[in-house]
Amino acid sequence: MSTNDFFSDLPGEFSRKDSPPVDPNLIAEWSKKFFGPLSSGSNVDELVLSSSKIPNEIPASSQNVISQEESASGGNSWTPRSGAGYTRVPDLGLSGAGVPTFPGGLNVPGAGQGLPGQNSPFSFLDDFRSFDSKVQNLQVSDPFSFSPSLVPSVDISSGNFDLSYARKDFPILEEKVNGRNLVWLDNAATTHKPQAVIDRLSYFYKHENSNIHRGAHTLAARATDAYEAAREKIKNFLNSSSTEEIVFVRGATEAINLVAQTWGRQNIGKDDEILISWLEHHANIVPWQMLCSEKGAKLKVIPVDETGQIILSEYQRLLTPKTRLVAFTQVSNALGTVTPAQTMIELAHKQGATVLLDGAQAVSHMPVDVQVLDCDFYVFSGHKVFAPTGIGVLFGKKGILDQMTPWQGGGNMIQDVTFERTVYQPAPFRFEAGTGNIADAVGLGAAIDYLNKFGMVRIAEYEHSLLEYGTKELKKIPGLKMIGTAPDKAGVLSFVLEGFKTEDVGRYLAQEGIAVRSGHHCAQPILRRFGLESTVRPSLAFYNTCEDIDALIRALYDLIGGRTSGPL
Ligand code: ALA
Repeated sequence: MSTNDFFSDLPGEFSRKDSPPVDPNLIAEWSKKFFGPLSSGSNVDELVLSSSKIPNEIPASSQNVISQEESASGGNSWTPRSGAGYTRVPDLGLSGAGVPTFPGGLNVPGAGQGLPGQNSPFSFLDDFRSFDSKVQNLQVSDPFSFSPSLVPSVDISSGNFDLSYARKDFPILEEKVNGRNLVWLDNAATTHKPQAVIDRLSYFYKHENSNIHRGAHTLAARATDAYEAAREKIKNFLNSSSTEEIVFVRGATEAINLVAQTWGRQNIGKDDEILISWLEHHANIVPWQMLCSEKGAKLKVIPVDETGQIILSEYQRLLTPKTRLVAFTQVSNALGTVTPAQTMIELAHKQGATVLLDGAQAVSHMPVDVQVLDCDFYVFSGHKVFAPTGIGVLFGKKGILDQMTPWQGGGNMIQDVTFERTVYQPAPFRFEAGTGNIADAVGLGAAIDYLNKFGMVRIAEYEHSLLEYGTKELKKIPGLKMIGTAPDKAGVLSFVLEGFKTEDVGRYLAQEGIAVRSGHHCAQPILRRFGLESTVRPSLAFYNTCEDIDALIRALYDLIGGRTSGPL
């Protein structure tokens, strides 16, 4: 299909003749950015990894012990093994509680009843004989993999649709605000949830709700299957090589704090250096300040240029053998800058530094491949990628996670406890103490299923066109100054408007039904870099349209036009 097909031949209200054209070179450009090798013009030498700084010896307190199989009557019958998996418990002969009915009336044979050829009625209790078979099992036993409610309401097979047409899958976008249609341009703060995610949560609470990994009963099996299937989906979404690398957390902030409090405490010492960039969200600044102050380490900041892009030569100058960690964002939440992450990671590894990449603002806008990026840690929040709040992900390379001690102790993360000592589960479970956010993890899996129907490359292309259109129209407004003008940007259109306080602009737009964020966006240092305390920040998702941007532009012209009528 031609890239221009994104904007052509659309039904009814989504048809738009004057939509921005999509540059035919865009696919090649984006593919190169996301998947391609470094350009030959890169100043990065051949990658030579210096010796890892991860200690070779695992502290005795954190060594995994291959568990003895526990008897089903032993209470906690779920025990993952080193090597990722589930320990088989005897088949108790329990049967599933019937074939559940799914939204839309579809009955899925086998759901909740185990699979043909399996001895146990609980697929999560079956022996983990091979990774592939578990993948297959999880997919088959997750009922919503097959639910028609997950199929977006567009004919994807024809290859002839506008991604913005998907907006009717998001019920909240029908909301009226101040008698006007809601125009949601606050996606960098949070994204809305498609009906598929809402249905999946509802289904979980109606048919699967249970604690996980504990107890051999039907609902525990369903809940565990659904939770672990979500982990599998996230693994695939990030192209991680193993579910053992995927830790469920509350969000990106918790993921960064986890790394600081575990890996950081183990590996950062006096006079070591941590590099962050000037673009960082407070969540990728404060945990490192806390760690540096505890350890006597130094926090150094990579500067950005006038467009808001990392100055690579300065970064290379700051990288030294003392650099133990580089922690930076893939996409700036305040400016939208897409950083040259792959290049920066290669450079960091050449110095033997570990890299944490903050993907909170990237995952909803572009494909992410942690193996291509080669980052050591990757973090994101579910709510920024059309999933519920309160669930997020820490990806960590297996070899690193396996050597990290837990940060929170309690149930679910242990293999054996006596008053004298505790044996921890292997990763990822050792980092998931207590009862986690089970339903919302399942909801995150459903959000990923939903996105997969479109494909992240297509989403990136569409949004890039919207961003170009919005930038072009905003720049025409007298007195408006864009903040963040890097050539590589995603999702964010920050600006200030001469003669107006940012909070007044935000309030005026809110009256018009247009939601944007006005303020410091939890990224004060980067705004101060531009001499500002706040900006107005419209931010995009793939359900936004040119009509949304037109509504914003119209409202801003109205605001300017009414300037003489006095302050707001
Ligand atoms: N980090 C979120 C934002 O940028 C809350 O708005």
